Amino acid sequence: MKYDINEFNELINDVINTDEFKTMKKYRHHVKSNLYDHSIKVAYLCFKHHKRFKSKFELRYFVRGALLHDFYLYDWHDKLPENRLHGFRHSKKALKNARERFLDLTPMEEDMIKNHMFPLTPVPPKTRAGWLVCFYDKVVAIKEYFSRKKRHWH
Ligand SMILES: [Fe+2]
Ligand SMILES: [Fe+2]
Repeated sequence: MKYDINEFNELINDVINTDEFKTMKKYRHHVKSNLYDHSIKVAYLCFKHHKRFKSKFELRYFVRGALLHDFYLYDWHDKLPENRLHGFRHSKKALKNARERFLDLTPMEEDMIKNHMFPLTPVPPKTRAGWLVCFYDKVVAIKEYFSRKKRHWH
């Protein structure tokens, strides 16, 4: 199946060009990746899923929720006391930042961000979109982890 990369780029443009999102380029993620690339990869898999399975929920918000799932904006590798328990806490921080920056955040996006770390965090997603980002985040994380010797993710 062919996917329209221009449509995807149009959907993500607003978010990835904000100053806040750009800062994610400097935050490491899973050895060789950074948060900026990681978030776009997760959003792209969600975009493809939506197209392939003709999902009913709104694509624009699904992609934005995926882009913002790790919008916590710090480097968790920094040895700071507040970075302990990063895995358990960062989804709350990401939601707080996303709410502040994007005032029209939908309940679906809130669910996608807040519960994407399930089962590490105890509350499961409430929406289909929430389950999907939870799943594709893990798919991307595993690929990143095992591609540590390669330059590119694909
Ligand atoms: Fe995360
Ligand atoms: Fe993630």
